[in-house]
Amino acid sequence: MKYLLKAVLLCVLIVGVSSCKEQNNNEIKQAKEGVITDKAMVVSAHHLASKIGSNVMEKGGNAYDAMIATSFALAVVHPSAGNIGGGGFMIYRNNDGTNGSLDFREKAPLKAHAHMYLEDGKADGEVVKNLSLIGALSTGVPGTVEGAFAVHKKFGTMDMKDLIQPAIDLCIEGYEISKEEAIYLNKGQKKLDVLNGENHAYSSPNGEWEKGDIVKNMALGKTLTLIRDNGSDGFYKGETADLIVKTMKEHKGIISHEDLEKYKSVWREAITFDYKDYKVISMAPSSSGGICLAQMMGMTELYPIGSYGFQSTKAIQLMVETERRAYADRSKHLGDPDFVEIPTAKLMNKEYLKRNMANFSFEKANTSEEIRPFEEQYTKESNETTHFSIIDSFGNAVSVTTTLNLGFGSRVIVDGAGFILNNEMDDFSSKPGVPNVFGVVGGTANAIQPEKRMLSSMTPTIVEKKGKLFMVVGTPGGSTIITSVYQTILNVIEFGMTMQEAVDAPRFHHQWKPDSIKFERDMDIDKVTEKELNKLGYPSIKRGNSIIMGQVDAILVKENGKLEAGADRRNYNSAAGF
Ligand code: GLY
Repeated sequence: MKYLLKAVLLCVLIVGVSSCKEQNNNEIKQAKEGVITDKAMVVSAHHLASKIGSNVMEKGGNAYDAMIATSFALAVVHPSAGNIGGGGFMIYRNNDGTNGSLDFREKAPLKAHAHMYLEDGKADGEVVKNLSLIGALSTGVPGTVEGAFAVHKKFGTMDMKDLIQPAIDLCIEGYEISKEEAIYLNKGQKKLDVLNGENHAYSSPNGEWEKGDIVKNMALGKTLTLIRDNGSDGFYKGETADLIVKTMKEHKGIISHEDLEKYKSVWREAITFDYKDYKVISMAPSSSGGICLAQMMGMTELYPIGSYGFQSTKAIQLMVETERRAYADRSKHLGDPDFVEIPTAKLMNKEYLKRNMANFSFEKANTSEEIRPFEEQYTKESNETTHFSIIDSFGNAVSVTTTLNLGFGSRVIVDGAGFILNNEMDDFSSKPGVPNVFGVVGGTANAIQPEKRMLSSMTPTIVEKKGKLFMVVGTPGGSTIITSVYQTILNVIEFGMTMQEAVDAPRFHHQWKPDSIKFERDMDIDKVTEKELNKLGYPSIKRGNSIIMGQVDAILVKENGKLEAGADRRNYNSAAGF
């Protein structure tokens, strides 16, 4: 209760006397709908970040200004995934209907090479366990800060200094944590202790974090101040760059000053496709999200899935089979478009998708062995990422997913700068056919090369209905991101759910290899359905270890023009707006 009072008080302090609405997870636990606002909304992993973004818009800023402020705030209050030491993607749709995307994904350092995670660096060596996951060698050149300045240059309206300042204030003045945050910070602290000693930027002064503690991060506050005062040079050059390179030397990493100075984000055409009356706008490579989503929805459209019923045997079968096929293509064809040719049009072609489902039957499961990636099949004929969604009062929308890869990234803190470095290099294929931490396999398209971007599954997405803004959606969750976004969209469009219901609904996942369906641990799948699926040849049904897959954060534009939040309350995600 004390925590709630403080949150409400902060809301008033931050937005002044306003009609700021924010999520109270207890109140809406049973509610059919999420928070409703009239004009503008931010849904993110942390209530303070959502409020800071909402506040920016209430002061007259647009969704892009709010995106920047929310992103910097998440770097402070959600340190396992919010970041300045990682990267991500943004999908946007302006009120005039124009859309596009920004790729601020990390890049492989100049000294990276294809066999860098194999024994002795040799092509025939085995993958060295954890080398691409723990320590500075697992870090890609961060893109988040350059991305924020690129967004501001193109679309921002407020002074950048005012967008970064709230994050600096959080670092210096501190923020109060809940019981759940204390638990996850203690887990993070243990991970970070191994490589950074026991007195680092995320250490509790009392040994362990407790509910009600005030968390500060002076070193990060100083870094953010350098960025505020010097622009992106405050990160990629000068003191911060020196500290990154020093940390690299101490932890056997390879990122150099040249890598940092060369980093540039890229504006890319978004992947767009139609699904019935809807147009879906999603992320292009270097994320696999948009293309895989287009494939899965394209295959789904061939069947009257709405009539099968939510999570009925038939609906699960169909969705598993579309997921299986899309992830098979992902394994072979998708990578950084600046390095590899991607047959995007062919992969999304409706005829191809239809042919690809020709051997699907409701009578019996396919196996992943019989489903081959595109070309091979037709050559004879020819935990941690974070997402936030924003809509402003002008009708602009942004959908942003950003990450350090796993929770607390490489576990390396830039000493003196207070931020954690990503371990994104694991998203490359270290060796053809050898699964990464998410179990996905890849080949040459996603092999390591200097300055290449590693393939992602992040799927920030915006949906239009009959030419009007309809939904903003995305989630963390590694390789399960694409299937979570897919299911959330279908939950609304096909199964008639509200945004909150669609986000609350338990999820499942299939990714071609391994050939198994993973259900959320607590998914209340009807025993009859499970038995039926077993009988049809879907035997290896695995319960995920974590309680939920991803943390979907979405906004729906209702028919009356109001905005409904779908914040993943199972992980204390939160909406704020007015
Ligand atoms: N690091 C997870 C992803 O980008 O897919």
